[in-house]
Amino acid sequence: MAELAVVYLSTQGNTKKMAEAIAEGARTRHVEVKVDSFFEWDPAEAASADAIAVGSSTFDYAMHPPISKFIDKMVHAGVEGKTGAAFGSYGWSGEAPVQIANKLRKAGMEVIDPVLRIQYSPNEKDLLECNRLGKDLAGKLKRK
Ligand SMILES: Cc1cc2nc3c(=O)[nH]c(=O)nc-3n(C[C@H](O)[C@H](O)[C@H](O)COP(=O)(O)O)c2cc1C
Repeated sequence: MAELAVVYLSTQGNTKKMAEAIAEGARTRHVEVKVDSFFEWDPAEAASADAIAVGSSTFDYAMHPPISKFIDKMVHAGVEGKTGAAFGSYGWSGEAPVQIANKLRKAGMEVIDPVLRIQYSPNEKDLLECNRLGKDLAGKLKRK
């Protein structure tokens, strides 16, 4: 079965809720999904999935430095040609998902456009959007 890795950094649980809804959406399309905080992931294990979704909230107009370092290690393990997605909760400017997408594209991944950004805590409608992203990722995997 195709595998999707969902990796996130979330300080108060907002991006975590998005990550879990993305995973839930992908699972309805029969893709094997592992979703967890970056802290629990081995970068090489994430890199070995068929598709990788990476999320971070925005702090001081950027993604959090630890997730940036995680992505660098993951990319080093080899992600070229894989499908990716970037997401995150934000308050007022929301740069992190765009920065994540740029890093993944630079590493040769095909990243779903646009990135998914939700202001503060996702509501029911926002969670459906996250489900949709998970389904889109799963659909791309099956076509490969
Ligand atoms: C110290 C601090 C700095 C922040 N800086 C930004 C920022 O520069 N731009 C922005 O859009 N949101 C900013 N936020 C808002 C967070 O991105 C927002 O609260 C988000 O929902 C947190 O999601 P999380 O629980 O997944 O970490 C900041 C929040 C804090 C506490």
